[in-house]
Amino acid sequence: MLISIIVAMAKNRVIGKNGQLPWHLPSDLQRFKQLTMGQTLLMGRLTFESIGKPLTGRRTIVVSRDPEYQAAGCEVTNTIEAGIQLASPAEELFICGGADIYQQTLPLAERIYLTELDTKMEGDCYFPELLAGEFQTIYTEQCTEVMNYSFSILQRNNCNLPAPLIKNEEIMIRIDKVKTASFDVDPQRGFTPLCPDELPVIGGDQIAGELNAQAGFAKVRLVSKDCHPAEAPWVAHSAAEIMQPVSGDYPNLDIKWPPHCVVGTEGNRLIPGLPNEADYDLVIEKGKDPLMHPYGACYQDLAETISTGAIEWLKEQRIDTILLGGLATDYCVKATGLQLLRAGFRIIVNLAGCRGVAEETSQQAIEDMRSAGAEFINSSADLA
Ligand SMILES: NC(=O)c1ccc[n+]([C@@H]2O[C@H](COP(=O)([O-])OP(=O)(O)OC[C@H]3O[C@@H](n4cnc5c(N)ncnc54)[C@H](OP(=O)(O)O)[C@@H]3O)[C@@H](O)[C@H]2O)c1
Repeated sequence: MLISIIVAMAKNRVIGKNGQLPWHLPSDLQRFKQLTMGQTLLMGRLTFESIGKPLTGRRTIVVSRDPEYQAAGCEVTNTIEAGIQLASPAEELFICGGADIYQQTLPLAERIYLTELDTKMEGDCYFPELLAGEFQTIYTEQCTEVMNYSFSILQRNNCNLPAPLIKNEEIMIRIDKVKTASFDVDPQRGFTPLCPDELPVIGGDQIAGELNAQAGFAKVRLVSKDCHPAEAPWVAHSAAEIMQPVSGDYPNLDIKWPPHCVVGTEGNRLIPGLPNEADYDLVIEKGKDPLMHPYGACYQDLAETISTGAIEWLKEQRIDTILLGGLATDYCVKATGLQLLRAGFRIIVNLAGCRGVAEETSQQAIEDMRSAGAEFINSSADLA
């Protein structure tokens, strides 16, 4: 098992003040989450108490010398050695601090994920000095957020390490296939230039290769489909009506759209290059009722009370991570991603496996999903 330290420190090696982190860097917290999700963590009792709860999606081992100590949702050991032993089936153990634990485990660490602020900070605990020549930097990236900082990966010299998860200078996301599903959201011809009179999204017919590639990292694969009737109160009968509000008492309809993905038509079919529907593990049909026009694939209604069964099925399959792609980024992919995040899944959106209606709304959709906890990859090549 690889023993890694993950730490953020100021220029003067400060890592904490009054039991807390002395700074707030959302992009660094996001990276911490990306690197540690699905992994095993070890931390000192004081660090655990400053976080206040176990971190979701990660196995947490807390060390305390108090034999009575308990931490809900975590495992507790009374020595660091026992904690490492307990973690040992894991491929990599992430030592998450604080200062006391870093000091004791540094001699054991073979890799350090190091965030280093460009600024000195006031504080009361420090990351220990590294001996000259002890580690070499194998990756580094300059970042600017509230303040300038760098993120580096250091590896101990002269040790036989597995290949780091970096390819083309990008950090890769490690996937546990047994717990992962690949979700193709509405990859239908009605959302591509193959059906220009429906809702064509530029490049929508070019995502099959990426959706197939991401599915290679998953145990199960599901697809959602809009299965609309030809006529409904949400159907726009002229170009001027498109995206205008639906009038009348229709709680599950918002705006009007051109007819699209109508059952039995070309627009309803999956884009070329995807498997036959029968070869998916689950096919979700939504929006059949003329009084419903859902976007997310997990509910039939806008109020999200009538399930399509997707969430229940994924939980039954013991899935915790979902690779997401489809059409369109700014509507159904976004709504589906947010629904799955609210249901407690880890969501990884494959940007090469999606296309959006418009640049601005797609960027906003990415920000909305990111704020809700989604992770992003440029393509399935970022998966390991
Ligand atoms: N910047 C960062 O990356 C980062 C990361 C983590 C934490 N921090 C900061 O670091 C500070 C906390 O660090 P800290 O040094 O005060 O505390 P800590 O290392 O989180 O926890 C110390 C506690 O761990 C237990 N412990 C230590 N060595 C042990 C051993 N050999 N066997 C069994 N138990 C052992 C003891 O718990 P008992 O007293 O219960 O015996 C000890 O009091 C906070 O300010 C936090 O925000 C910063």
